[in-house]
Amino acid sequence: MQIIKRPEDMARITTKELADAFIAEQIEAVRAQVGDKKVLLALSGGVDSSVVAALLIKAIGKQLVCVHVNHGLMRKGESEQVIEVFRNQLDANLIYVDATDRFLDLLAGVEEPEKKRKIIGGEFIKVFDEESAKLEGISFLAQGTIYPDILESDGVKAHHNVGGLPEDMQMGLVEPVALLYKDEVRVVGKALGLPDEMVFRQPFPGPGLGVRCLGAITRDRLHALREADAILREEFDKCGLAGKVWQYFIAVPDFKSVGVKDGKRYEGWPAIIRAVNTVDAMTATIEEIPYDILHHITNRITHEVDGINRVLLDLTPKPIGTIEWE
Ligand code: XMP
Repeated sequence: MQIIKRPEDMARITTKELADAFIAEQIEAVRAQVGDKKVLLALSGGVDSSVVAALLIKAIGKQLVCVHVNHGLMRKGESEQVIEVFRNQLDANLIYVDATDRFLDLLAGVEEPEKKRKIIGGEFIKVFDEESAKLEGISFLAQGTIYPDILESDGVKAHHNVGGLPEDMQMGLVEPVALLYKDEVRVVGKALGLPDEMVFRQPFPGPGLGVRCLGAITRDRLHALREADAILREEFDKCGLAGKVWQYFIAVPDFKSVGVKDGKRYEGWPAIIRAVNTVDAMTATIEEIPYDILHHITNRITHEVDGINRVLLDLTPKPIGTIEWE
């Protein structure tokens, strides 16, 4: 990350016109910086890296090489969407690495949250390094650094994105949205024609579902979590809560309770709903979800997701509960 300062007179990008002007300016700047050299980008599918990818595709086309590492802890349909948007629609040079088995094998039996995070972060860098070593003639590394990352780099808040790549890579950095705030990145993303689901995506932790499949991750419980999460997202989309709630997800702990299904004993895990609002993620309040929606979601999850037999609602604000369970 390069530490740069946003000029005081820089206008906040709030409209398509301002975004288009910013894009045109950045295209020129990137072309001047990069020339005919190649640029590598770790594309997670999050807002920032997606906007950088779309901008660089416009500026330098196939000189950009995107690497999307699927760590097996993505939400349902996310890696597929990255491939659809970037490879199929934007014709990007995209390398897709399905590293699910590598990550899940390493995580098997590991219960401790911070150890899980370390394994996921460390393996991510390893996979990315291996992929970049296979490529020839890469001179630049692009990153989705945004202005709050620079402001927070004073050590107050550890930057714990999984995509945090070692700074000792011998490459120049291309960081076209480094002066922008998050809301501006979204306006630019929209102007670049990225789909709303990508541009208005809720924050998603780098270690992904890994910190929501509580305790030691197993493939069957991870699958149940992913399916339950997809139902929650679908229902929040339908009732309009998706555009209103800051972050919402399911966590699945590693214990079972007794239930009954089709007249038989049915042991299953609980799915815990968490839906919070916040400005800066340092504190958070609880969204009041109408009971009819909760009943409907409960009904769908318990009937449609194998292995889940109860749905619970987390009413704990932050503090005292952190947003994630791990
Ligand atoms: P907590 O759980 O600390 O979360 O209240 C605050 C915000 O940070 C996200 N989060 C993470 N993001 N890597 C990330 O990139 C992580 O390890 C991580 N842990 C938490 C969380 O989703 C929330 O938005």
